Amino acid sequence: MLTLLDKNIEAYAYEHTTPSGELFDDLREVTLAETDMPQMQVGRIEGQLLTLLTRLCGATFAVEIGTFTGYSSLHIAQGLRDGGKLITCDIDAHATSIARRFWSRSSAGERIELRLAPAVDTLATIGQSIDLAFIDADKENYITYWDLLVPKMTKGGLIIADNVLWSGKVLKPQEASDQAIVDFNAHVRADVRVEHVMLTVRDGIMLARVK
Ligand SMILES: C[S@@+](CC[C@H](N)C(=O)[O-])C[C@H]1O[C@@H](n2cnc3c(N)ncnc32)[C@H](O)[C@@H]1O
Repeated sequence: MLTLLDKNIEAYAYEHTTPSGELFDDLREVTLAETDMPQMQVGRIEGQLLTLLTRLCGATFAVEIGTFTGYSSLHIAQGLRDGGKLITCDIDAHATSIARRFWSRSSAGERIELRLAPAVDTLATIGQSIDLAFIDADKENYITYWDLLVPKMTKGGLIIADNVLWSGKVLKPQEASDQAIVDFNAHVRADVRVEHVMLTVRDGIMLARVK
């Protein structure tokens, strides 16, 4: 479980969060067994937060950057309004084949369209206004994704960016990915088009509402 919190506090919060259900538990197990970096999956607390935020903002059209095995995608999809749609993108054919397997077991999965291509290419094709966007892919491109997304967002739409505390490495950046997150956080802070809050949930989550 990726967290900056005391493990017992994290476990307590986990126990006091609505369970995502058996399908998600199965997906977690398969991701552990069949992928090299299962810790990339957001987990119950952030997953349920994604569902709740999607519902609270009444999203009809959402975009996700970084599908992996589809755990966060399905949480977003199940929070969409009836008739809603999620476009999610990744470049990993193996991980997303697991995602497709699990989405097909859920009615919310019918709302998901996967684009197996670099996120920049997928974003370039989106003309519809986006109610909710979730950024959870290569850290070096977070600013690029942000700059492409903000003009495409609905007024009042929500951008959610994951891993903005980057295991605490934002305080002492050493590698390129550390610096990329530091630069991204500064970029968001300076952007007058949004109001934002950085949550210390899991590995840090930036919530930004587009004005
Ligand atoms: C942290 S994982 C996403 C986890 C996922 N949101 C979940 O909760 O299961 C990041 C994903 O971003 C993908 N990725 C990396 N670079 C990418 C790019 N340029 N375009 C699209 N996806 C990319 C990786 O293949 C990986 O599956």
